[in-house]
Amino acid sequence: MTEPAEITDSLLRLKQETIACSRCELSKTRKNVVFGEGNPNADIFLIAEAPGHTEDLAGRPFVGASGQLLDKILAACGFTRQQHVFLSNVVKCRPPGNRTPSLQEAGLCIPWLYRQMELIDPQIVILLGATALRYMAGPAYKITRDHGKWFYCNRRLTMAVYHPSALLRNPGLKRDTWTDFKNVVLKYRELSDPDHVCQYV
Ligand code: URA
Repeated sequence: MTEPAEITDSLLRLKQETIACSRCELSKTRKNVVFGEGNPNADIFLIAEAPGHTEDLAGRPFVGASGQLLDKILAACGFTRQQHVFLSNVVKCRPPGNRTPSLQEAGLCIPWLYRQMELIDPQIVILLGATALRYMAGPAYKITRDHGKWFYCNRRLTMAVYHPSALLRNPGLKRDTWTDFKNVVLKYRELSDPDHVCQYV
């Protein structure tokens, strides 16, 4: 087993490589590469689409309005960014105007994500939103039909949920999303920590 400190060191080295990346045109317009953050030894890896304007400026994932909602959902599950999860995106640089990253951009960037996942080696992967689901699992998957279902993606136990920004646009999706996250808590108890405290589950 790799020691936690070794993983942290390897992840820091990977971050240095990632922030020097110029594989695609997004490197020309970005302010910062948003590598991701959280516990390098987390059992839950959350993967979203790409940094937005606020994240590009801050160099950190989910610091805008959808990040605040995500933190609330995580807190309701008894999870924190520091302890339980690692949070990153399929694409590490902001697409101009917050457009959806192209298939080519995702293809060039995803090897960074795979290296993060190899080092962190999570028990559970959560895909946030339709774009992360499409680029990670393939175009046959549909967020409206497949959210909340467990499946294996790259040999890892995975669930897709609605993206927090979709919940901000359409609050009607919150009920389903809460059901999905309660199942994440149950799976976390089963696989990682039977004593995990969540006051709602
Ligand atoms: N939306 C995303 O998909 N990723 C972020 O980091 C922030 C907003």
